[in-house]
Amino acid sequence: MPYTLKRGAIALLLIFLPICHAVLVNRTIDSNLGDPVTNFQPIYHATPGSDEWDDETCTTCNITPDPAAAFDNTYMSATYFPHNQPLEGINITLQFTGVAVWVFFILSNTNVHGNPFVSTHCNFTLDGQHAGSFSHEPDNTTTAFIYNVAVFSQTGLSNTPHEVIVSVNDFPIPTWLCFDYAIYTYGTFLYNLHRAHLPVVIAGAKQIAVTPRTRHRPP
Ligand SMILES: *[C@@H]1O[C@H](CO)[C@@H](O)[C@H](O)[C@H]1NC(C)=O
Ligand SMILES: *[C@@H]1O[C@H](CO)[C@@H](O)[C@H](O)[C@H]1NC(C)=O
Ligand SMILES: *[C@@H]1O[C@H](CO)[C@@H](O)[C@H](O)[C@H]1NC(C)=O
Ligand SMILES: *[C@@H]1O[C@H](CO)[C@@H](O)[C@H](O)[C@H]1NC(C)=O
Repeated sequence: MPYTLKRGAIALLLIFLPICHAVLVNRTIDSNLGDPVTNFQPIYHATPGSDEWDDETCTTCNITPDPAAAFDNTYMSATYFPHNQPLEGINITLQFTGVAVWVFFILSNTNVHGNPFVSTHCNFTLDGQHAGSFSHEPDNTTTAFIYNVAVFSQTGLSNTPHEVIVSVNDFPIPTWLCFDYAIYTYGTFLYNLHRAHLPVVIAGAKQIAVTPRTRHRPP
């Protein structure tokens, strides 16, 4: 049996749609300024009492990338010498909560000051497990630095706290590390309460017939 409704009444059928979007956002951890969202600062380890790690203002360093080409105009570098670190190495600890991570280094080629120790070699540990290594040998035909090199990446992580350690341990040859920044992808949720279907008062609403088809179907 057909029934009637006023249009105004139809308009009063409120439809609130709570839409839940899974959103992935990239955040950065700068070598010196850290993570502006969590305030995490990279942790630089070296042999106690030594001062291997230097920032871009170092005046005694002779492997000197251009800060203007670095993320946030900053970087941290250190050179590992096997004879200086017979027992302990140098490393960087990065902590974040997220589903993916990328670690960006600056790499050197031939050094303008003649420093031969420009190759980069390191291991990566993710949540306590060996997760890969990286090696770069200089191109001796150029003195140009290479910026924004993703030396490590990992996707498909759970959206939980993680720790990446970039390290040099027990390595037979000198190795130069220059950390610029890391990116990690944080998973978050946005709830939008769509209010597009607010009640509308229609002046002079007409009587209209609404016949739900289902009610007229034969059994
Ligand atoms: C995050 O950054 C990585 C590395 O640059 C990029 O591959 C990825 O597409 C970015 N993801 C988002 C959600 O912006
Ligand atoms: C990081 O470096 C410190 C100091 O050399 C050392 O004690 C520690 O074992 C290193 N950690 C890793 C994971 O290499
Ligand atoms: C580049 O120069 C370094 C340092 O002098 C040297 O050890 C290396 O063998 C050279 N590489 C090549 C491919 O010639
Ligand atoms: C990486 O780890 C391996 C295995 O522990 C070690 O032999 C090698 O020296 C490490 N490389 C560097 C650059 O520290």
